[in-house]
Amino acid sequence: MKEVCSITAEALARTSGEIKEGVTTEYLDSFAERLIRERKAVPVFIGYRGYRHATCISVNEEVVHGIPSRRVIQAGDIVSLDVGAKLSGYCGDTAATFPVGKVVKKTLKLVRAGEQALQAGIKQARAGNHLGDISSAIQKIAEKNGFSVVRDLYGHGVGVDLHEDPLIPNYGRPGEGPELKPGMTLAIEPMLNIGGWKIKTLDDGWTVITEDRSLSCHFEHTVLITDGDPEILTAI
Ligand code: MF3
Ligand code: CO
Ligand code: CO
Repeated sequence: MKEVCSITAEALARTSGEIKEGVTTEYLDSFAERLIRERKAVPVFIGYRGYRHATCISVNEEVVHGIPSRRVIQAGDIVSLDVGAKLSGYCGDTAATFPVGKVVKKTLKLVRAGEQALQAGIKQARAGNHLGDISSAIQKIAEKNGFSVVRDLYGHGVGVDLHEDPLIPNYGRPGEGPELKPGMTLAIEPMLNIGGWKIKTLDDGWTVITEDRSLSCHFEHTVLITDGDPEILTAI
């Protein structure tokens, strides 16, 4: 898990360095794919339920699962990049949202709140805590900042498969849900919207957007529960 997560993190970091005005999301996707393969890992999203790309790239009101295309990134966009890899039978999953050029203050606040919500969730990822401690910490940060959390998509266990139990809602109450145990690896991934929490899927069958077309951000780390502090396996 550590090895594959460090490759996944490197792919996210290096590809994010290529996000600028004028590049296509297709280009970013091939950049990430090349790096993952150079490290002898496999882009685990390819072939997942028929998905055909190494990354999901979701722009502005797109929440997650945006399909790389000839779409050109513009200044003022926010770009969510989600990367997954598999190596020696184990998966890593990580994502982040990047503002391009100058974005308005509220947008920056959304992105900051998303980062903060993920960190607050991770902080609760301790043996003896319950899943609801993670969920409620995320929800609290989002709502304190005036944003909503997407309720129909979840974080998840990650390991041999990209998506394993348990589902990790980004809302909930402290103490609820299963108890966390050392050795669990969780993909914690808050999605925050400027407007309402409702989403819909476009006709392409993948791209999820906010129902009210408000901006959305997405941050994700693969995290290991230990006897002590949580270990962020996809940290750089
Ligand atoms: N990486 C996404 C997640 O965070 C899942 C992508 S599935 C794909 O759970 F098929 F779209 F790649
Ligand atoms: Co992901
Ligand atoms: Co995930």
